Amino acid sequence: MAIVIKTAEEIEGMRRACRLASEVLDYIEPFIKPGVPTIDLDRLMNEYMLAHGAVSACLGYAPAGFTPYPASTCISINHVVCHGIPSEKPLKKGDIVNIDVTVILDGFYGDTSRMFMVGDKISVSARHLVEATYECMWRGIDAVAPGRSLNEVGIACEKVARAEGLSVVHEYGGHGVGRNFHEDPFVCHYNAPRENNVILKPGMIFTVEPMLNAGHRYISGLNDGWTVITRDRSLSAQWEHTVLVTETGYEVLTLSEGYPPIPEFITRK
Ligand code: MF3
Ligand code: CO
Ligand code: CO
Repeated sequence: MAIVIKTAEEIEGMRRACRLASEVLDYIEPFIKPGVPTIDLDRLMNEYMLAHGAVSACLGYAPAGFTPYPASTCISINHVVCHGIPSEKPLKKGDIVNIDVTVILDGFYGDTSRMFMVGDKISVSARHLVEATYECMWRGIDAVAPGRSLNEVGIACEKVARAEGLSVVHEYGGHGVGRNFHEDPFVCHYNAPRENNVILKPGMIFTVEPMLNAGHRYISGLNDGWTVITRDRSLSAQWEHTVLVTETGYEVLTLSEGYPPIPEFITRK
């Protein structure tokens, strides 16, 4: 499948969808507390999407070989790598949680995720994983520029993971996004010259969404057909942005008022 170069009109549609996806996370943040079942968070986020003229891209999503996804968002706790299904199980103090939101607004998909720490007793290693994964994503994004290879993103992400003693999940990666949820290219968050064999061009839009594990990189799937966990049950973290390649560099589309502080190595540029 060819990589779609977005028109000016499509870029404007993507800006709106992506900002809304980020605002869903701004909205839910104060509700993330010990004792709250993740299904409650999911319901609130779904209501917010609908109230803002969007629908969840996740609900009922059924790629070939998968059963339809049963919730509106993915909520992945501790050793869950991605695609955690919201449930009645309450959050506990010390949990690290990824919430991944994809909205469809006027036909455009906006895809973003953040990590949240539940309560104030977060272990040193869990906090390190969350913060290092944040740096990993931003270093990957900062490697985006027209004329460069997509593999620069993978190299930049892997460098941070290695320096921090963490491993990079290989089986899942970023993806083109636009009028479809998952478009070409696939984005590996590690040095993969063969897979990341794409020269970036203005108008391309894709996600950067590294999953880093505290232990080994290997994963297993639960028999609910969706939940992905670390094989060694070590903690896993992920952050995700949707990014546009511009004439001069990149534009991060999934930003909003409530977004956490952006690393200084980006803002001082
Ligand atoms: N939002 C995820 C991504 O980053 C995909 C979730 S698919 C779902 O690509 F069906 F699990 F929701
Ligand atoms: Co994505
Ligand atoms: Co996502």
